[in-house]
Amino acid sequence: MSGKLKVGFVGCGAFVKNFIPLFKAHPYVESVAVTDLIKERRDEIAQKFEIKNVYDSFEDMLKGDVNTIAIFVQRQLHGPLAIAALEAGKHVYSAVPMASTPEDIAKIVELVAKTRLTYSMGETGYYRPCSVFCRTKVLSGEMGDFVYGEAQYNHDMRHFYKSYQRSGGEEWKMVAGIPPMLYPTHSTSMILSSACSYALKVAAFGYEDHHEDEIFGKGRNYWDNPHSNTSALLHLKNRGIARISENRRIGWYSPQSYVTCCCGTEGSYESSMAQHTYVRLKGMDAEPEDVSAILNTPAMEEHKNEPEFLKNLANGKWANTTAPIQNIARLPEEYKDQHDGHGGTHKFMVDDFCKAAYTGKLSPTNAWVAARFNMPGLYAHKSAIRDGECLDIPDLGDPPADWAMLDPDNDLAASGRKHVIG
Ligand SMILES: NC(=O)c1ccc[n+]([C@@H]2O[C@H](COP(=O)([O-])OP(=O)(O)OC[C@H]3O[C@@H](n4cnc5c(N)ncnc54)[C@H](O)[C@@H]3O)[C@@H](O)[C@H]2O)c1
Repeated sequence: MSGKLKVGFVGCGAFVKNFIPLFKAHPYVESVAVTDLIKERRDEIAQKFEIKNVYDSFEDMLKGDVNTIAIFVQRQLHGPLAIAALEAGKHVYSAVPMASTPEDIAKIVELVAKTRLTYSMGETGYYRPCSVFCRTKVLSGEMGDFVYGEAQYNHDMRHFYKSYQRSGGEEWKMVAGIPPMLYPTHSTSMILSSACSYALKVAAFGYEDHHEDEIFGKGRNYWDNPHSNTSALLHLKNRGIARISENRRIGWYSPQSYVTCCCGTEGSYESSMAQHTYVRLKGMDAEPEDVSAILNTPAMEEHKNEPEFLKNLANGKWANTTAPIQNIARLPEEYKDQHDGHGGTHKFMVDDFCKAAYTGKLSPTNAWVAARFNMPGLYAHKSAIRDGECLDIPDLGDPPADWAMLDPDNDLAASGRKHVIG
């Protein structure tokens, strides 16, 4: 056991507000602290959540009374902070993505291997009901061999303006134009964890944006990135194929990240909005099963016969709590009345991290898994810039064999069940 966690949050923007209460309430957390480059934000958060430990900078926090850093800074800044935290001997919980360069990803994996500190990437996609369903079916062998799957993260730029403006100042478009595949883990995590495999090769194409907001294009953002959308085909280690899409210019709102299909040699899953269908081949005959009731939230099921159901659904209503397939029985009692979000995933992400850091076991989204979720995106972007050239994706391997995996469904008792992709 590593002992209780003293968690320092770096970044006091919008997203962290969902997580401070969950960390504070977790039985393995002793204390929390905050820092932000913008002092007013830090102080507002400290006041709102009654936090006494405030630091003037990330660097001061690293020298202070914390053993864990929780990274909630803007998406393009995670890698260097995770590296500095690990070098300072701290566990790391990071909002997605892991990092923006292959070098930073490799460095994080190297440091985690060397220090045996806990690194966990809080990836909502891994815990969403459709991923849990497909992963469980593939792992059980019921679907046969994985052959093909599709997942996407659709988030139109019009819904992003305010969040980029919040921390980006006058230069906000320079960051908003980040290549969509530098934020790839909502799509990759869902289909790769469903396929129980990882990607070896990628070929991708990007949509050259020409919108009047002038966010994408040469000279318009820090990456000279012309693409608002990128779709990639991944060739997986288990010989299956996955199509991922990261779309930032799309006439769509909700659901945002989801598996459209996950196909095996014996069975397949398909989804459309709130309809989830599982088909198995028995001999020559297809046996369909409507599994919507276990993948939708109870609120969705309750309202599904109302005339405005589809409209509400398409606008994201009823999407933030858990569905029956998500095992809430494994969560700490302290989480019972806590707010959730992103398909009921927040509590699972924090709980897995805290249990992993406390026990010294590997979390399901540990550094090696996170690398396998991130690296395909970085290479998909390179491929798209090179007009679809097929590229090899570097693989950083499996976690050390002598490092036990947390078995989140059975709390601290390891049952030997497989939770890591590979
Ligand atoms: N579904 C998801 O998984 C999901 C959803 C939303 C956001 N996120 C991620 O959460 C992260 C935070 O998002 P947000 O919307 O809260 O961002 P935000 O822009 O609102 O806040 C980021 C904060 O970090 C601070 N900051 C930056 N560098 C710092 C440093 N070196 N030291 C101290 N403070 C620093 C900024 O001043 C800012 O206040 C992003 O990486 C985003 O990708 C993930």
